[in-house]
Amino acid sequence: MEAVNKEELLEKIKFMYKEVAEKPDGEFHFEMGRPVAEKLGYSPEDLDNVPKEAVESFAGVGHYFDFAGIKEGETILDLGSGSGMDAFIAAIKAGKSGKVIGFDLSKDQLRKANMLKEKHDFSQAEFREGYIESLPLEDESVDVVISNGVINLSAEKDKVFKEISRVLKKGGRMAISDIVTEKPLTEKIKCDANIWASCIGGALQINTYKELMEKAGLKVVKEKHHPEYGFLSKSARNASDEFGVKSFSFLAEKQ
Ligand SMILES: C[S@@+](CC[C@H](N)C(=O)[O-])C[C@H]1O[C@@H](n2cnc3c(N)ncnc32)[C@H](O)[C@@H]1O
Repeated sequence: MEAVNKEELLEKIKFMYKEVAEKPDGEFHFEMGRPVAEKLGYSPEDLDNVPKEAVESFAGVGHYFDFAGIKEGETILDLGSGSGMDAFIAAIKAGKSGKVIGFDLSKDQLRKANMLKEKHDFSQAEFREGYIESLPLEDESVDVVISNGVINLSAEKDKVFKEISRVLKKGGRMAISDIVTEKPLTEKIKCDANIWASCIGGALQINTYKELMEKAGLKVVKEKHHPEYGFLSKSARNASDEFGVKSFSFLAEKQ
């Protein structure tokens, strides 16, 4: 669909999110950790109840837990679970009778999330290596799919939404936050794997993004803009201003 070099992009993503897992105090194009989580609407209680190290490496772009409405005993899938902050919050909401499966392509993020799972006894959570374009899960096996700041990074977003639709039970929910744009990005920006890996270059125009969800059988029932989310570096801010790069959350139901 897009013209970015996929191998180069995967290498950049792996490198960038290794740094996010291991050096959360480093310099990134985006904000991280508790300050941005609080700004986006996470409750102090949710943040206090999950491992501090997971909160420090939070690199999400929005807050969708009000949309997700997670209930005790549900099975939740977190796409691009990173160091695990959202997955741990979901695990508390689903309780010990529930189940949370986080998938990520970054071994370093998975190592951190699994270490925290063991240390803090989140027996209802598991973190597995996997690509969100091809999920090793059975059809109609999941109640809720969550994802924060990840789908924009995929060069095959149509496949991602088809996979979400396949694994969700009928009537199941998808609650996600992601980066979208008002205007389509230029080819030059889309081909820059560095800008892509920072959650900008892969962002789709919002109507195109919603069309992909609907085409996959995911009916969008709620959406909200997070004007409080912004990029940090000058180059990222310039692209944001020019193309109207924004963070949105969506709630969709599997038809
Ligand atoms: C911006 S971070 C967000 C992490 C986490 N959701 C959070 O809120 O902190 C994006 C994550 O998605 C993972 N990722 C990117 N593309 C992926 C793909 N195609 N399949 C699986 N994981 C992917 C990265 O390794 C990284 O951990």
